[in-house]
Amino acid sequence: MSEGGAGAIVTKSIGLEPRNGYVNPTVVQMSFGLVNAMGLPNPGMDEFVHEIRRAKTVLKVPLIVSVYGYSEDEYALLAKKGVEAGADAVELNVSCPHVKCTGSEIGQSPKLLAATVKKAKAAIDKPVIVKLSPNVTSIAALADVAARAGADALTAINTVKAMAINVEAGMPILSNGVGGLSGPAIKPIALRCVYDIFGQVEIPIIGCGGITNWRDAAEFLLAGASAVQIGTAVALKGPRVFSTITRGLSAYLRMKGYQSVSEIVGLSHRR
Ligand code: DHB
Repeated sequence: MSEGGAGAIVTKSIGLEPRNGYVNPTVVQMSFGLVNAMGLPNPGMDEFVHEIRRAKTVLKVPLIVSVYGYSEDEYALLAKKGVEAGADAVELNVSCPHVKCTGSEIGQSPKLLAATVKKAKAAIDKPVIVKLSPNVTSIAALADVAARAGADALTAINTVKAMAINVEAGMPILSNGVGGLSGPAIKPIALRCVYDIFGQVEIPIIGCGGITNWRDAAEFLLAGASAVQIGTAVALKGPRVFSTITRGLSAYLRMKGYQSVSEIVGLSHRR
C-alpha cells in the first residue's frame, strides 16, 4: 500500500482475543459498492504485535492501528499494546455496525464514547483517532463529544448499515444477515457527514467513504477533511489507486493555483 502511494496505513480492527469472524458469505459485491459483515476477524493483539513490529521495520509511512473492545478499559489496553509495539497512532473503531457489545453500540452513546476516548487518551502519548458511525441522528453531535473527550482527529465515516437478499433462496446473502455498505454508494452520505462535522469541531477530520478517484478526494477536502482513507477502491482497483489519486489531486491543485492541500480544506463552507 505504501509503495502504491498511501501516506499512512490503517490496519483491520484488532481486539484482545482472537476472533474467527462470521462464516461465509461475508462480502457481497454490487455495482455501487460492497456490503460486508466479516465479524471482526483478527488474531488478537498479543499475536498482532508481531505484525506491527515487522511492519515498522519496512514501512516508510506512519502505521495507524485500529482497535475494538468490549469496554473502555479494553480500548485503552489495546491502544497501549499497539503503541508499545510501534503504532504511530491508534484509531478507535467505535462504529462497527453489527458486532454485539462493541462498535456502534459505543459510538452511538455519548456517555460510552466520551469515557472510551478519555481512557484511550490517558493510556498513550500518540494520537487517538475516533472512527465515527453514520448510523446516528447527528454525527456532528457525536463528533463534538469525541473532540471534547480529547480525540486528536476523527475519521468519518464507517460503513452504513445495510443488507442484501437472494431472491432464489429467499434469504439474506450474508451469513450475519445485516452488514455495512461501503464504496461509491455511500460517498454523498460521507461527504455530508464531513461537511456537518467541520462546522462543529476544530480537530482534523479524515474523510472516508467511496473515494475512488481524485475528484472524490478533492470533494472531501473541500467539505473539510484534512486527509482521506481508501478501502473499497483498493479492493476493486488495487493498491496503485493511491498514487493515481494523489497525482490527479496534485494536477488539480496546480491548475487552481494552490500550493498545498491545506489551502482547500473546508473551502466549500465559504458563502
Ligand atoms: C466490519 C467492521 C466494520 O467496522 C465495518 O464497518 C464493517 C464490517 C466487520 O469486521 O465485520
